[in-house]
Amino acid sequence: MNEFTFAYPTKVYFGEGTAEKALKAELERAGQTVMLAYGGGSVKSNGIYDEIRGILEEAGKEIIDFSGIMPNPTYAKVQEGAALAKENGVDFILALGGGSVIDCCKVISAQAKLEQDIWTMEYADYKFPTDGLPVGAVVTASGTGAEMNSGAVITCEDKNWKGPILGTAPVFAVLDPSYTASVPKMQVLSGAFDTLSHAMETDLGNSDKDNVSDDVALAVMRNTVVNMRRLLTDINDMQARGNLMWDSAMAENGILKVGHLTDFQAHQIEHQLGAYTDCNHGQGLAVIHPVYYRHIVNDAREKFTRFAKEVFGKDTAEEGIEALAAFIKECGLPTRLSELRSKTEITPELLRSIADTSNIIKCGPRELTKDEIYDILTECM
Ligand code: NZQ
Ligand code: ZN
Repeated sequence: MNEFTFAYPTKVYFGEGTAEKALKAELERAGQTVMLAYGGGSVKSNGIYDEIRGILEEAGKEIIDFSGIMPNPTYAKVQEGAALAKENGVDFILALGGGSVIDCCKVISAQAKLEQDIWTMEYADYKFPTDGLPVGAVVTASGTGAEMNSGAVITCEDKNWKGPILGTAPVFAVLDPSYTASVPKMQVLSGAFDTLSHAMETDLGNSDKDNVSDDVALAVMRNTVVNMRRLLTDINDMQARGNLMWDSAMAENGILKVGHLTDFQAHQIEHQLGAYTDCNHGQGLAVIHPVYYRHIVNDAREKFTRFAKEVFGKDTAEEGIEALAAFIKECGLPTRLSELRSKTEITPELLRSIADTSNIIKCGPRELTKDEIYDILTECM
């Protein structure tokens, strides 16, 4: 095992009806003014907003509404939220949504305590926030695991850049599977594929042999596939949704990364694809993964063979990768870039820009070149 420090900042309340218990316990410690942050309106139509707002009102909190956080949250939205928090002397931020809302709030939290622009601080001065407004997360769409870490993924539209900004980890997270009941089928499966991707990308990073993090990652992958297949039979299988909700948290709460380097090259490519197209994160990954893995199969043959055996019951590395591709099809997830939501036409020139701006990972199976990333993207067309 590589050297590591491990701490767990987030208290998790898992299960149906846990929001009330969690908020009553946690908000006692929070200040008076709570920013209630959410996305484009799903929480209003499914009744979750009213339920949470009611609990806050009953606790006598002053509520500052912050709505309209979009999928692939933008840096401009972070700044809008931070300004609102400062203006109103917000004491606590309650994120009500999926990865996008939670990520946006994690950075609002840090920016609200800073005079300096946080992107400049992190990317020009290489300094990271040490303070932030406390954040709580009520998860309404699972998959990213954003509720249990301090990293956020934000899109800077003016820079054509989507990437990590370190913010504040939630002090608590509510994981109530029934809150995901209204998530559309394609989003449920895209989110779950993101979870599978996190475990695969972590596993492919360099690690010592026979370490427990690899074993846990394989267990998370297996369990994610099993429960995604249950949802293909019955999308309303709430037990499977709950299992996936915890898989999602497990894949990104740091447990799989203990003593381990990570790959995350597919994520780097997807993030830039997202910066240029605004595509759905899990769906972008579904397109990229098999193509990327065919490129690097010889650089991590042992890991791919184990993945093939333990996740898909296949014998060889190649068979495992093809089983993954077949599974993506079975789920009805996109397999080509042309099937993704995109705000712009996907042309060879666009793919060149995506390739040239993608981050290159040095601790994965092999360091790619920009040209190879371009080839991978072209093969995804
Ligand atoms: O905006 P609303 O109306 O709420 O609709 C959302 C959104 O359109 C909808 N939704 C959420 N809960 C719902 C619901 N619809 C019906 N019923 C509900 N209960 O779902 C849509 C997608 O939401 P979003 O939050 O964008 O999805 P997801 O959770 O997949 O988050 C994606 C974002 O997280 C980042 C991605 O890059 C992307 O920006 N990631 C964050 C990570 C992290 N912080 O650890 C790791 C990931 O690798 C990922 O990069
Ligand atoms: Zn992801």
